[in-house]
Amino acid sequence: MQTKIVKINDVREQEKDFEEAGAVIRNGGLVAFPTETVYGLGTNGLNAEACAGIYRAKGRPSDNPLILHVCDRAMVDVVAAEVTPLAEKILAAFCPGPITMLLPKRSAVPDSVTGGLGTVGVRMPDNDTARALIRAAGVPVAAPSANISGRPSPTTAEAVVADMEGRISVILDGGPCRFGVESTIVDCTGDTAVILRPGAVTREMLEEVCSRVEMDPALVGADTVPRAPGMKYTHYAPKAPLTLIHGKPEMLAEAFTKKIREEKSTGKKVGVIVSRGLAEKLKEVLPAEVIAVYGTQGNYQEIAAHLYEALRSFDHKDVDILLGEATEEDGLGLAIMNRFRKSAGGRIIEV
Ligand code: TXA
Ligand code: MG
Repeated sequence: MQTKIVKINDVREQEKDFEEAGAVIRNGGLVAFPTETVYGLGTNGLNAEACAGIYRAKGRPSDNPLILHVCDRAMVDVVAAEVTPLAEKILAAFCPGPITMLLPKRSAVPDSVTGGLGTVGVRMPDNDTARALIRAAGVPVAAPSANISGRPSPTTAEAVVADMEGRISVILDGGPCRFGVESTIVDCTGDTAVILRPGAVTREMLEEVCSRVEMDPALVGADTVPRAPGMKYTHYAPKAPLTLIHGKPEMLAEAFTKKIREEKSTGKKVGVIVSRGLAEKLKEVLPAEVIAVYGTQGNYQEIAAHLYEALRSFDHKDVDILLGEATEEDGLGLAIMNRFRKSAGGRIIEV
């Protein structure tokens, strides 16, 4: 399949491009598009056969449900059988924005979208290209992240091309994504907002708007279980195995240097994903091309926006192992570490 790449410079001037891409979606084809979080791989969310095409293109297990993307409040009612008072609060406070609400699904939503569940994930992206595409399609757009299953999500059109060229019809190139980690997923079916996946709308932000906020215990539990390499399902994984190092900032340079020397002495080629400050200190033990900088220490916005690119930057580099600098887990740090731990298959060294 020939993949057409369309650069989006001005949403209002490019009506024809959106009409074309919208028709592809309506007719069940696959279009990758930018959102404020990561690039999505979209198709007609009311068409079961079209959704099956998403699973094929990604190599995704079919019991993993898809999020439906809407362009406005009216479209929420097309997919959700009920918009709970909690969901109305979240809509008013955060939408459009990087949040997905789980709501009771309407029967028009195929089982292949929800993996047979009674709820549907609904999200209104805060990105003009995304919403113009959904509006042009005229249907809710089912879209997972536009990566091959298990790989880091794409935050640039180039990353989408790397995974999806030849597998899908169109890629809308809207430049790099603003947030860089996927939306916060919140179960909104009851009175308590239950966070199933942390994201850019943080627990602290939700607490200001909703009277009760909880974390899904499975989320916390799953993240504390260490995983044997290659034995268990790893997500957001770079091609070389990654281990994280966590500790006080002043201890990190020594801890990284020691570990790098250890690995090198056994003949391994090492790469690192670290903050700018630590990168400077590691230049003595590593060549610059295997040092990926994800941002400034403590600047979670910057780190979230560059994490997946940093992981993907090693795809074509000759390294045997990767070491990553863990962040703290307050605010957006929780979403960053949720992804980074999965990239590392749970391997983390405390110093
Ligand atoms: O920011 C995002 O959410 C991006 C952009 C493209 O919008 N999308 C995204 O989709 O991250 P995906 O498919 O990579 O992740 C969706 C997650 C999956 O972990 C899936 O299991 C969960 O949402 N999910 C979707 N519907 C669900 C449901 N009804 N119940 C529980 N989990 C659900
Ligand atoms: Mg994904």
